[in-house]
Amino acid sequence: MLMWLTREEERILGGEKGFAAQKAMEILVALGDIFGADRLIPVGSVQVSGVSYKTIGDEGLKWLESLRGGKAVVEATLNPAGMDLERWEEMGIPKAFADGQLRIIAAFQSMGIQPLCTCTPYLLGNFPRLGEHLAWSESSAVCFANSVLGARTNREGGPSAVASALIGKTPRFGYHLPENRRPTLRIDVPIILKDSFDFSLLGYVIGLEAKNRVPFIGRMGRYGYIIARDELKALSASLAASGSVALFHMEGITPEASMAKRSLRLRMQEIERLRIERQDLERARENLSTASEDEVDLVAFGCPHASLEELRLIAGLLHGKRLKRRVKLWIFTSLGIRRIAERCGYIHAIEAAGGRIYADTCMVVSPLGEIGFEAIAVNSAKAAVYLSALNKPKVILASTEQCIRMAMNS
Ligand code: F3S
Repeated sequence: MLMWLTREEERILGGEKGFAAQKAMEILVALGDIFGADRLIPVGSVQVSGVSYKTIGDEGLKWLESLRGGKAVVEATLNPAGMDLERWEEMGIPKAFADGQLRIIAAFQSMGIQPLCTCTPYLLGNFPRLGEHLAWSESSAVCFANSVLGARTNREGGPSAVASALIGKTPRFGYHLPENRRPTLRIDVPIILKDSFDFSLLGYVIGLEAKNRVPFIGRMGRYGYIIARDELKALSASLAASGSVALFHMEGITPEASMAKRSLRLRMQEIERLRIERQDLERARENLSTASEDEVDLVAFGCPHASLEELRLIAGLLHGKRLKRRVKLWIFTSLGIRRIAERCGYIHAIEAAGGRIYADTCMVVSPLGEIGFEAIAVNSAKAAVYLSALNKPKVILASTEQCIRMAMNS
């Protein structure tokens, strides 16, 4: 059955509101028809991926420029670009790459899409309400928004997210429907996790098994165990990287967990149950590490983009210390968080030790191989998965403290 359209939507499809809106409506209608959506629903905000010149190249740029004249009708922001939009020369980005990247940003801006390039818009005030429909595309942000915030979004592709920004709607299917938000896998984690790094490994291990299922993670460790937002951020990112998990429930933590537990009880017999032990996490860390410590020439943090608390932690670890001359330490975050961190003194502490904080970009979508790095130490399983897939540079996966020790003189 084809998706039902209102009169206004039909007129947009007929070209009444211009070429860009017509193309956007064509994308949404095609998507809705393919996935059996019954209608379009309004979205509260849009987050667009496919922003880096490294990933979309000249073809993507041409497509974006063909949409000039379209205007976003809802709050819309971008995923990280291929470089720090202000400090790209300092990063060593080639001029031709920078030219292409700046044209991409200009094309988005001409459509009223804000050049706020981050995979963590929820750290910067774009904080969706429980049950709010969104059209977000960055996989870690989608998983965080669905699971931790209780919003409703599919994992949009770049073009469908742009289309949603121009129309303000998305087809109603997938995670917008309550029946698709029920758990389909039960996970037991009888170990105490120490920090975000452990959560990142846990997400990687669960994602491998879960693929695109909806895991329900039973109560972790012990009652009263507090899980920080940054730990859930790390978990969301790696769940979506090793599998394509877009929603999980965690007992006592996520907003739909009680509903999910009730639904689980009714279907106990048909649901697979898995247990994750400490050795599973250690095995994952080893499998994702392809470099040795003495090869490391870059330590990179901020996948997903670093929060203020993570910058504070790193500033504290680096305070009064000096990095090895041949090893760089780069932290990726959003422009907004960098500005706040500047006022808090964290940037000064990190830069005094020899580190750098870059905004608008990240270690995966910037051309680090072309810049010349050979081996990167990261504290994020998602970064390790994506960098390993590119094959160069090599990767070593370790905790924040271990990564910093690799970058130190002593
Ligand atoms: Fe964000 Fe880049 Fe990691 S987009 S989640 S920092 S790969």
